[in-house]
Amino acid sequence: MSEVFQKQLGAATRYCAVFGHPIKHSASPAMQNAGLAALGLDWRYLAFEVHPDNLREAIAGAKVMKFLGLNLTVPHKLLAVDMVDVLDESAKTWGAVNTIRFEARGKNDDWQPLQSFEDSAPVQIRTHGFNTDASAITRSLREDLALELSGKKVLLLGAGGAGRTAGLKLAAEKVSELFLVNRTTAKAEVLVAEIRQRFPQVKVSVGYPDEKIDLLLNATSLGLKPDDGLPLDETKFPLSRASAVYDMIYRPAETPLLKQAKAAGCRVANGLGMLLYQGAQALEIWTGRPAPVAIMRAALLKEVYGN
Ligand code: ATR
Repeated sequence: MSEVFQKQLGAATRYCAVFGHPIKHSASPAMQNAGLAALGLDWRYLAFEVHPDNLREAIAGAKVMKFLGLNLTVPHKLLAVDMVDVLDESAKTWGAVNTIRFEARGKNDDWQPLQSFEDSAPVQIRTHGFNTDASAITRSLREDLALELSGKKVLLLGAGGAGRTAGLKLAAEKVSELFLVNRTTAKAEVLVAEIRQRFPQVKVSVGYPDEKIDLLLNATSLGLKPDDGLPLDETKFPLSRASAVYDMIYRPAETPLLKQAKAAGCRVANGLGMLLYQGAQALEIWTGRPAPVAIMRAALLKEVYGN
């Protein structure tokens, strides 16, 4: 619970929430409630276990109960693309929705965030879908590894949902060369084809590089479980060839990959920054105000690592 003072819940309290399946380990409520309290808002952020079969109804339920915003996590981000009324450019570009803002028609027939209708009861409400995951990748790399992607060589591990967003975002940021490795090679090939088609200026291939690279990015789930091994084959790519290593996993704080990378002399960071920045941007989308990032980070560290 945040140490920042929060008013008691009342009839005027407004709600945001995260929907996921599973959801009970989500650190977002701790982070977002700390942010909301620091902004002095009588809002709360809740977490709900929502089965994908019920996602459409759950969004509709939040809408009629005048929730202000939603986050969506695994496995809802792709499904929601077809469930919101309008897609922001970010959601169109990355093909996934992780943030929804509820909006109502204002006096001038324009759509305004629902929070600006405190005293009236808007009739027509719409859902507006955004993606804050992709920009969180670049922000975290910049702030946690002091890395600007333009012109850099990157090895990306993983071609699932997180790997796809990362690969496309890296290409959009104009990396010079992208190497893709995935357990199921066919999936890496599909992603390579999509990147080539959308970002023809980026050199992209399947397989390990023979040369030194600026960044190795793990977007696989290997490292989450205690006995997981490394997500790469060190005989094919020794970690000493990477200047920096980023693991999207943040629990545990130090995965076997990050431990080995540190020992090999690489700069390292885990994925907590991504979680933080996607949440900070979502909060800004709902409130229209700058997110209190330092407070949200402290709440996240306490929730996830107990410090
Ligand atoms: P997410 O949304 O987190 O990306 P996902 O779409 O299920 O989740 O993708 C999981 C990623 O981790 C994939 O790249 C997956 O490889 P496959 O495409 O071959 O399934 C990778 N992954 C999961 N378990 C793995 C394992 N034991 N060894 C290697 N890669 C693994």
